[in-house]
Amino acid sequence: MTIKIDSKNKEVLVIPLYEKDNKIVFFNIKNNEKIKEQIIKKLKQYPSFKAKKNQSLFLEINSQKILLIGLVEKFDLENLREAYSIVFKIISSMEEKECLVEIPDNKKETIISTVEGIDLTDYKFDKYLSEKKENNTTFYIDTSKSNEKIIKKTILVNKFVKYARNLVNENSNIIIPEKLEELCRDFAKQKKLKIKVLNEKEIIKQKLNLLEAVGRGSEYPPRLILVEYNGDSKNKEKIALVGKGITFDTGGINLKPSGYLEDMKSDMGGAATMMGTFMAAVELKLKKNIVLVVSTAENAIGGSAFKPGDIFTSYKGVTVEIGNTDAEGRLVLADAMTYAQKHFKVNTIIDAATLTGACLVALGPSLIGMFGNDSQMKKAIFDSGEKTGDRVWELPIYEEHREMIKGKFSDIKNIGGRDGGAITAAAFLEKFVEKDVKWVHLDIAGAARSKKDSFYIPEFGTGRGVRLLIDYLENN
Ligand code: BES
Ligand code: ZN
Ligand code: ZN
Repeated sequence: MTIKIDSKNKEVLVIPLYEKDNKIVFFNIKNNEKIKEQIIKKLKQYPSFKAKKNQSLFLEINSQKILLIGLVEKFDLENLREAYSIVFKIISSMEEKECLVEIPDNKKETIISTVEGIDLTDYKFDKYLSEKKENNTTFYIDTSKSNEKIIKKTILVNKFVKYARNLVNENSNIIIPEKLEELCRDFAKQKKLKIKVLNEKEIIKQKLNLLEAVGRGSEYPPRLILVEYNGDSKNKEKIALVGKGITFDTGGINLKPSGYLEDMKSDMGGAATMMGTFMAAVELKLKKNIVLVVSTAENAIGGSAFKPGDIFTSYKGVTVEIGNTDAEGRLVLADAMTYAQKHFKVNTIIDAATLTGACLVALGPSLIGMFGNDSQMKKAIFDSGEKTGDRVWELPIYEEHREMIKGKFSDIKNIGGRDGGAITAAAFLEKFVEKDVKWVHLDIAGAARSKKDSFYIPEFGTGRGVRLLIDYLENN
């Protein structure tokens, strides 16, 4: 699939329209009046087509193929993504070669969302399929050539959304901590960035005991990976993008039952999001100073696995009793956050993690749960969510939640009981945020993967979070 700019007519012509007072209305675009008249005439044969939201109709008028797509009069960006995602699906199923795409107006955001709708739908994890289907359509967006740059940029960001999807979709015996290291090393080398990797020996030596404990039961040793990008040396802000990289979460000795294990190769979704975001930010040469922090281990079960009831001293010095080995994400994040603050002097932290089933229960399958200590930052990330469609909803942390993770024999426990599970997990992470460091935690347990294909979001790995954070980094 290719996306270009052109205004000349093609085999297929895509036209958005909407319904108002039971009438079909064209947007005020330049597609020629003659065609409009012909369409209106032809539509008399199709009384069930009302141009309702996402309703589509394929027509042929004097051998000109036309695809009508229903929008709404006051469309938002998500309406556009959905509508043009439908356009992509229809056109690609017909194996058309060239297609001219009309858009409802010429605003920058409209063009971006149209391209997102088409391009993000052009994705299939087909590595393990014997029969692969390529899409060879060229979509020509009918807009001025001056918009070429923003289209290129949109496609570049989408590439890293798909990169994150691929990482989540790939086998857990391939995406192991050492593989994430290799991917980060390759990228760092290519972009001449500084990289630091703590292997299992250094993790033990430097006493990142929580990360070590989680990784102990696995054949695949853990890693802490840090890559530095300095896009604005004059700026004092240094942002850590911290990702939970549990390459498979069995639950450990508190083994997950069948029905809960099957999706757990996606438990490195936070790492995938942050790697995708970081790589896109570097490619876009954003004026930001960013440290990518990937804390990665496999939460496996075996004779050497860490056990409930054991108490470990975190890298920070706070002692933690293991109430449940399945609450492993907060453990690997805690040591990673401390390390990034101590050795990289970051003053802002954003973490993304498939942290709690409770977040899914609270917010449903697609929303990102947000926590943090800086209202301005949270507001900005919320706004980016509304704009990009990677939607975010804030949850609070109050004193009563902090109470719930207090330990009897240790400073804190890694579980706080069933109630408010997403919040007590966030309260645990909060313990590892140093004074004056701004922090936002994104629980993407639901958002990172999807149970079904829906518009431009495919089944399983979604890549949600990448466009959200790129938008935030670009505009703040
Ligand atoms: N990786 C899971 C969270 C998860 C669950 C992500 C479902 C995606 C879908 C996490 O490590 C976990 O198991 N959390 C436990 C915590 C509990 C033991 C306090 C949970 O949510 O049940
Ligand atoms: Zn777990
Ligand atoms: Zn997990």
